[in-house]
Amino acid sequence: MQNNIGIFDSGIGGVTVLREILKVLPNENYIYYSDSINNPYGDKSDEEIIKICDKIVQKLIENECKAIVIACNTASAKAVKFLRNKYTNIPFIAIEPAYKMVHDYNYNEPTLVMATKGTIESEKFNLLYKKYNNHKTYLYSCVGLADIIEEGNQEKLEKYLKSNLGIYIGKVYNVVLGCTHYPLVQQEIKKVLGDVKFFNGASRLAIHLKEILETENLINQENKCGKITFIDTSKQPNNKQERFYQFLKQY
Ligand code: DGL
Repeated sequence: MQNNIGIFDSGIGGVTVLREILKVLPNENYIYYSDSINNPYGDKSDEEIIKICDKIVQKLIENECKAIVIACNTASAKAVKFLRNKYTNIPFIAIEPAYKMVHDYNYNEPTLVMATKGTIESEKFNLLYKKYNNHKTYLYSCVGLADIIEEGNQEKLEKYLKSNLGIYIGKVYNVVLGCTHYPLVQQEIKKVLGDVKFFNGASRLAIHLKEILETENLINQENKCGKITFIDTSKQPNNKQERFYQFLKQY
């Protein structure tokens, strides 16, 4: 019986999405697919991302998934349309930078959108941007940042943030974390930019997923905490699993 929820990202960043989902759907069983062998997604072409995502989705379907969460802004922007057209029997829940949330809650303040190059340049994000533009927005492609977070090198991270975000000090109040890896370093971003307000689409996605499962009658009826299975695609020994569970506990 198909009773798992598949969730994937280019690595462990999607844990920031899973931890929001667990708040509203603790009784489901999850298969988390950390595709570190293909990390980063941020500077790959649309075709490459579609091919990668297609393979992951086939694996998740083979593993009895009833719904699939794309816990990656880049993959959502580039592949969700293709996936929804190809796999019509399974719901896909995608994430996007929480730019509409800025529009709804803090429109007048200057905003920095941090995301991968792939997301910033995507058609999907550009439509969103044009629709909700507050004319005080800086778009910044954080090339290499997801990689540094994935690697977990604190010194490199602090250096990166200082040299790349320094120009926005005092200029922005809202910060959209448009890549699922970035909430993991929210405190470090704050150290550079000061007391900014963060926007992140994960909690909205979690509610949306719950609504979809309810509408499609797919909610797990067992009244006990679900299971989380972690899969990483890298063939090299690494500490991804350990860090994934560490981050999962931090909510
Ligand atoms: N975590 C991903 C995102 O939300 C992608 C990071 C990457 O692999 O470049 O965009």
